[in-house]
Amino acid sequence: MSAKIIDGKAVSDLIKNEIAEETAQLQKKGITPGLGFILVGDDPASQTYVRMKGKACERVGFYSLTERRPTETTQEELLDLVNRFNVNPDIHGFLIQLPLPGHLNEVEIIESVDPVKDVDCFTPYNVGSLTSGRESFMPCTPAGVIELMRRSDIDPSGKHVVIVGRSNIVGRPLATLLSRKSEGGNATVTLCHSRTRDISQFLRQADIVVAAIGSPEFIHGDQLKPGCIVIDVGVNRVNVPESEDKRGYRLVGDVHFDSACKIASAITPVPGGVGPMTIAMLLKNTLIAAKRKAGIIQ
Ligand SMILES: NC(=O)c1ccc[n+]([C@@H]2O[C@H](COP(=O)([O-])OP(=O)(O)OC[C@H]3O[C@@H](n4cnc5c(N)ncnc54)[C@H](OP(=O)(O)O)[C@@H]3O)[C@@H](O)[C@H]2O)c1
Repeated sequence: MSAKIIDGKAVSDLIKNEIAEETAQLQKKGITPGLGFILVGDDPASQTYVRMKGKACERVGFYSLTERRPTETTQEELLDLVNRFNVNPDIHGFLIQLPLPGHLNEVEIIESVDPVKDVDCFTPYNVGSLTSGRESFMPCTPAGVIELMRRSDIDPSGKHVVIVGRSNIVGRPLATLLSRKSEGGNATVTLCHSRTRDISQFLRQADIVVAAIGSPEFIHGDQLKPGCIVIDVGVNRVNVPESEDKRGYRLVGDVHFDSACKIASAITPVPGGVGPMTIAMLLKNTLIAAKRKAGIIQ
């Protein structure tokens, strides 16, 4: 068996085109969705992510604003910057690129974001709303997984989904969304983590496996049930000689792609799977925020 490749890049391009069309209509009414980024420090991966998100804004016709601050920025300075984004009328949504330098109190910073502009869906208010089924925004990566499945005709209803990884950003909110009683949900969800005994026994039962671990090629094909669907959220840098890749590294997922391809019926690649969907969902949330502010939707 050779798995069908689920092309997240192609699906995200379609979504971006839809967002660009809607943005063009909004602009005729004098509304330009605005997305802001706060980047503290010089972490190369964070810089790349913010650059990619800024480019995505350009592509769909959004206004974007990136505020860069040095590593030694204080908590007070950062809170002040967050507040300026909170009150900026041109910014409908914004995010603080994580992780923050260790001396900063990440929880306090996130809690200071106005939930109306919290397009990452990290504030306690929005997390609580999601858990109680009255979400105002869907968290971007879990929403990307759900949307990618929906547009690839993969219905999780009645399926056993095994998620490996229980972070607040990916695994836990995804378990909430997949297990809820509505479209895109209705799955039976098992949430595995580092204390789970014998992960293989759960993987072997899974109709759909979602890997969100942050450990390169952690899951192998021989652990999977034949015909299952594999959604690989992991993005890991693995060092390689410059003769192989001039960057000196390549990106791999949390699933060993070649061996999983032989067992699964469909699989997302890394890169080009869930990653581009996350950015598309961020744009979608910003569009929603802009339409809410204009009174077009509730
Ligand atoms: N594609 C995207 O857009 C996107 C977005 C976000 C993240 N990611 C990627 O997704 C991956 C996960 O990110 P994250 O932020 O969720 O990571 P995280 O906060 O570090 O969480 C990792 C999770 O994996 C579990 N885990 C770690 N080692 C394990 C093991 N040996 N066996 C079983 N479970 C294990 C941890 O368990 P414990 O809770 O017990 O420690 C934790 O729940 C990373 O590669 C990240 O780069 C991609």
